[in-house]
Amino acid sequence: MDTLPTEQLASWIATGEVLVADGRGPKVVRCRDGLLLKILRPRRHIALARLFPAAGRFTRNAECLLRLGFPAPHVREAFWLDRPHGLSGCRYEPLAGQSLEELLAEHPERLAALIPALARFILQLHARHIYFRSLHPGNILLLESGGFGLIDLLDLHLKPLPLSAWHIRRNFRHLEQALQRRQLANFPLDALRSEYERLRRL
Ligand SMILES: Nc1ncnc2c1ncn2[C@@H]1O[C@H](COP(=O)(O)OP(=O)(O)OP(=O)(O)O)[C@@H](O)[C@H]1O
Ligand SMILES: [Mg+2]
Repeated sequence: MDTLPTEQLASWIATGEVLVADGRGPKVVRCRDGLLLKILRPRRHIALARLFPAAGRFTRNAECLLRLGFPAPHVREAFWLDRPHGLSGCRYEPLAGQSLEELLAEHPERLAALIPALARFILQLHARHIYFRSLHPGNILLLESGGFGLIDLLDLHLKPLPLSAWHIRRNFRHLEQALQRRQLANFPLDALRSEYERLRRL
Protein backbone atom coordinates (compact mmCIF):
# COMPACT_ATOMS: atom_id res chain seq x y z
CA MET A 1 0.00 0.00 0.00
CA ASP A 2 1.49 3.34 -1.05
CA THR A 3 1.73 6.44 1.08
CA LEU A 4 -0.44 9.32 -0.11
CA PRO A 5 1.40 12.63 -0.59
CA THR A 6 0.42 15.04 2.20
CA GLU A 7 -0.60 17.70 -0.33
CA GLN A 8 -3.12 15.35 -1.91
CA LEU A 9 -4.89 14.78 1.41
CA ALA A 10 -4.86 18.52 2.17
CA SER A 11 -6.32 19.25 -1.26
CA TRP A 12 -9.14 16.68 -0.92
CA ILE A 13 -10.07 18.15 2.46
CA ALA A 14 -9.82 21.76 1.27
CA THR A 15 -11.88 21.26 -1.89
CA GLY A 16 -14.31 18.66 -0.55
CA GLU A 17 -17.08 18.67 2.03
CA VAL A 18 -16.31 17.30 5.48
CA LEU A 19 -19.26 15.02 6.36
CA VAL A 20 -18.02 13.72 9.71
CA ALA A 21 -15.27 15.04 11.98
CA ASP A 22 -14.20 14.56 15.58
CA GLY A 23 -11.68 16.17 17.92
CA ARG A 24 -8.83 14.73 15.86
CA GLY A 25 -10.04 16.14 12.55
CA PRO A 26 -12.06 15.05 9.49
CA LYS A 27 -13.21 11.42 9.33
CA VAL A 28 -15.36 11.30 6.20
CA VAL A 29 -14.99 13.79 3.32
CA ARG A 30 -17.00 14.00 0.12
CA CYS A 31 -14.38 14.79 -2.54
CA ARG A 32 -15.04 17.01 -5.55
CA ASP A 33 -14.99 13.97 -7.86
CA GLY A 34 -17.87 12.43 -5.86
CA LEU A 35 -15.82 9.75 -4.08
CA LEU A 36 -15.91 9.53 -0.29
CA LEU A 37 -12.62 9.72 1.56
CA LYS A 38 -12.50 7.88 4.86
CA ILE A 39 -9.65 8.61 7.26
CA LEU A 40 -8.95 5.70 9.59
CA ARG A 41 -7.12 6.45 12.81
CA PRO A 42 -6.07 3.55 15.00
CA ARG A 43 -8.30 3.20 18.05
CA ARG A 44 -5.66 1.28 19.99
CA HIS A 45 -2.57 -0.86 19.30
CA ILE A 46 -0.62 1.45 17.00
CA ALA A 47 1.96 -1.30 16.44
CA LEU A 48 -0.75 -3.55 14.98
CA ALA A 49 -2.21 -0.75 12.88
CA ARG A 50 1.26 -0.21 11.37
CA LEU A 51 1.34 -3.82 10.23
CA PHE A 52 -2.33 -4.26 9.33
CA PRO A 53 -3.73 -0.94 8.12
CA ALA A 54 -7.41 -0.34 8.81
CA ALA A 55 -7.88 0.80 5.19
CA GLY A 56 -6.85 -2.66 4.02
CA ARG A 57 -9.36 -4.28 6.37
CA PHE A 58 -12.10 -1.90 5.23
CA THR A 59 -11.36 -2.76 1.58
CA ARG A 60 -11.35 -6.51 2.18
CA ASN A 61 -14.60 -6.33 4.15
CA ALA A 62 -16.31 -4.33 1.37
CA GLU A 63 -15.10 -6.86 -1.21
CA CYS A 64 -16.32 -9.74 0.94
CA LEU A 65 -19.83 -8.26 1.14
CA LEU A 66 -19.92 -7.61 -2.60
CA ARG A 67 -18.78 -11.15 -3.32
CA LEU A 68 -21.63 -12.47 -1.20
CA GLY A 69 -24.09 -10.28 -3.11
CA PHE A 70 -24.69 -7.59 -0.47
CA PRO A 71 -24.49 -3.94 -1.57
CA ALA A 72 -21.37 -2.24 -0.19
CA PRO A 73 -19.10 0.62 -1.20
CA HIS A 74 -16.71 -0.06 -4.10
CA VAL A 75 -13.28 0.92 -2.78
CA ARG A 76 -11.23 2.60 -5.52
CA GLU A 77 -7.98 3.18 -3.61
CA ALA A 78 -6.44 2.57 -0.21
CA PHE A 79 -3.29 4.25 1.09
CA TRP A 80 -1.16 5.08 4.07
CA LEU A 81 -1.58 8.58 5.42
CA ASP A 82 0.95 8.36 8.24
CA ARG A 83 2.45 4.91 8.56
CA PRO A 84 4.48 5.50 11.76
CA HIS A 85 1.22 6.43 13.49
CA GLY A 86 -0.80 3.66 11.84
CA LEU A 87 -3.00 6.14 9.99
CA SER A 88 -4.50 4.98 6.70
CA GLY A 89 -7.35 5.95 4.41
CA CYS A 90 -9.40 4.92 1.44
CA ARG A 91 -11.69 6.43 -1.17
CA TYR A 92 -14.84 4.69 -2.31
CA GLU A 93 -17.94 5.18 -4.40
CA PRO A 94 -20.82 6.20 -2.16
CA LEU A 95 -23.93 4.06 -2.10
CA ALA A 96 -26.94 6.11 -3.15
CA GLY A 97 -29.29 6.15 -0.20
CA GLN A 98 -30.08 7.44 3.23
CA SER A 99 -29.00 6.05 6.60
CA LEU A 100 -31.70 4.48 8.75
CA GLU A 101 -30.72 6.97 11.44
CA GLU A 102 -31.66 9.85 9.14
CA LEU A 103 -34.85 8.07 8.13
CA LEU A 104 -35.75 7.55 11.80
CA ALA A 105 -35.31 11.27 12.47
CA GLU A 106 -37.26 12.42 9.42
CA HIS A 107 -39.87 9.72 8.74
CA PRO A 108 -40.13 7.31 11.69
CA GLU A 109 -43.32 5.81 10.24
CA ARG A 110 -41.45 4.83 7.06
CA LEU A 111 -38.78 3.13 9.11
CA ALA A 112 -41.43 1.28 11.12
CA ALA A 113 -42.91 -0.04 7.86
CA LEU A 114 -39.47 -1.31 6.82
CA ILE A 115 -38.90 -3.44 9.93
CA PRO A 116 -39.94 -6.77 8.30
CA ALA A 117 -37.57 -6.14 5.37
CA LEU A 118 -34.79 -5.09 7.74
CA ALA A 119 -35.27 -8.24 9.84
CA ARG A 120 -35.00 -10.33 6.66
CA PHE A 121 -31.83 -8.47 5.65
CA ILE A 122 -30.16 -9.07 9.03
CA LEU A 123 -31.20 -12.72 8.92
CA GLN A 124 -29.58 -13.03 5.48
CA LEU A 125 -26.35 -11.48 6.79
CA HIS A 126 -26.27 -13.94 9.69
CA ALA A 127 -27.09 -16.87 7.45
CA ARG A 128 -24.18 -15.90 5.19
CA HIS A 129 -21.82 -15.96 8.22
CA ILE A 130 -21.54 -12.17 8.53
CA TYR A 131 -21.01 -10.75 11.99
CA PHE A 132 -21.06 -6.95 11.81
CA ARG A 133 -20.45 -5.54 15.26
CA SER A 134 -21.24 -1.97 14.14
CA LEU A 135 -24.70 -2.96 12.94
CA HIS A 136 -26.70 0.15 13.86
CA PRO A 137 -28.98 2.62 12.03
CA GLY A 138 -26.10 5.01 11.24
CA ASN A 139 -24.30 2.26 9.31
CA ILE A 140 -27.25 0.77 7.41
CA LEU A 141 -28.44 2.64 4.35
CA LEU A 142 -31.84 2.39 2.73
CA LEU A 143 -30.77 2.36 -0.91
CA GLU A 144 -32.47 4.39 -3.60
CA SER A 145 -32.60 1.18 -5.61
CA GLY A 146 -34.49 -0.48 -2.74
CA GLY A 147 -32.98 -2.85 -0.23
CA PHE A 148 -30.29 -2.14 2.33
CA GLY A 149 -26.55 -1.55 2.18
CA LEU A 150 -23.86 -1.48 4.85
CA ILE A 151 -21.16 1.14 5.37
CA ASP A 152 -18.47 1.72 8.00
CA LEU A 153 -17.23 -1.83 7.61
CA LEU A 154 -14.19 -2.04 9.89
CA ASP A 155 -15.85 -4.31 12.45
CA LEU A 156 -17.19 -6.88 10.03
CA HIS A 157 -16.19 -10.53 10.34
CA LEU A 158 -16.87 -13.46 8.08
CA LYS A 159 -17.36 -16.43 10.41
CA PRO A 160 -16.65 -20.01 9.35
CA LEU A 161 -20.27 -21.01 10.14
CA PRO A 162 -23.69 -19.35 10.11
CA LEU A 163 -24.07 -17.25 13.25
CA SER A 164 -24.83 -19.18 16.43
CA ALA A 165 -27.70 -18.22 18.74
CA TRP A 166 -25.11 -16.72 21.09
CA HIS A 167 -23.63 -14.51 18.34
CA ILE A 168 -27.08 -13.46 17.22
CA ARG A 169 -28.01 -12.38 20.76
CA ARG A 170 -24.71 -10.57 21.05
CA ASN A 171 -25.19 -8.80 17.72
CA PHE A 172 -28.63 -7.55 18.84
CA ARG A 173 -27.06 -6.42 22.12
CA HIS A 174 -24.51 -4.38 20.14
CA LEU A 175 -27.39 -2.78 18.32
CA GLU A 176 -29.19 -2.05 21.59
CA GLN A 177 -26.08 -0.45 23.09
CA ALA A 178 -25.48 1.64 19.95
CA LEU A 179 -29.09 2.88 20.11
CA GLN A 180 -28.54 3.95 23.72
CA ARG A 181 -25.24 5.67 22.91
CA ARG A 182 -26.81 7.50 19.99
CA GLN A 183 -29.97 8.28 21.99
CA LEU A 184 -32.27 6.64 19.48
CA ALA A 185 -34.87 5.46 21.98
CA ASN A 186 -37.61 5.57 19.31
CA PHE A 187 -35.98 2.90 17.13
CA PRO A 188 -38.42 -0.07 16.98
CA LEU A 189 -35.94 -2.59 18.36
CA ASP A 190 -38.49 -4.93 19.96
CA ALA A 191 -40.43 -5.17 16.70
CA LEU A 192 -37.20 -5.90 14.81
CA ARG A 193 -36.17 -8.58 17.27
CA SER A 194 -39.50 -10.36 17.24
CA GLU A 195 -39.76 -10.23 13.45
CA TYR A 196 -36.23 -11.62 13.20
CA GLU A 197 -37.13 -14.46 15.61
CA ARG A 198 -40.35 -15.18 13.70
CA LEU A 199 -38.46 -15.46 10.39
CA ARG A 200 -35.73 -17.58 11.96
CA ARG A 201 -38.27 -20.13 13.14
CA LEU A 202 -39.86 -20.50 9.69
N1 LIG B 1 -20.59 4.33 1.24
C1 LIG B 1 -21.31 5.38 1.63
N2 LIG B 1 -22.36 5.74 0.90
C2 LIG B 1 -23.09 6.79 1.27
N3 LIG B 1 -22.86 7.55 2.35
C3 LIG B 1 -21.84 7.24 3.11
C4 LIG B 1 -21.01 6.13 2.80
N4 LIG B 1 -20.04 6.06 3.72
C5 LIG B 1 -20.28 7.08 4.58
N5 LIG B 1 -21.35 7.79 4.22
C6 LIG B 1 -21.90 8.97 4.90
O1 LIG B 1 -21.02 9.37 5.93
C7 LIG B 1 -21.60 9.17 7.23
C8 LIG B 1 -20.58 8.62 8.21
O2 LIG B 1 -19.89 7.55 7.62
P1 LIG B 1 -19.30 6.38 8.50
O3 LIG B 1 -20.39 5.72 9.25
O4 LIG B 1 -18.47 5.58 7.60
O5 LIG B 1 -18.35 7.19 9.47
P2 LIG B 1 -18.25 7.26 11.06
O6 LIG B 1 -16.91 7.79 11.30
O7 LIG B 1 -18.64 5.99 11.68
O8 LIG B 1 -19.31 8.28 11.47
P3 LIG B 1 -20.47 8.02 12.51
O9 LIG B 1 -19.82 8.05 13.85
O10 LIG B 1 -21.42 9.12 12.21
O11 LIG B 1 -21.05 6.64 12.19
C9 LIG B 1 -22.75 8.22 6.97
O12 LIG B 1 -23.79 8.33 7.93
C10 LIG B 1 -23.20 8.62 5.58
O13 LIG B 1 -24.01 9.77 5.65
MG1 LIG C 1 -20.66 4.99 11.15
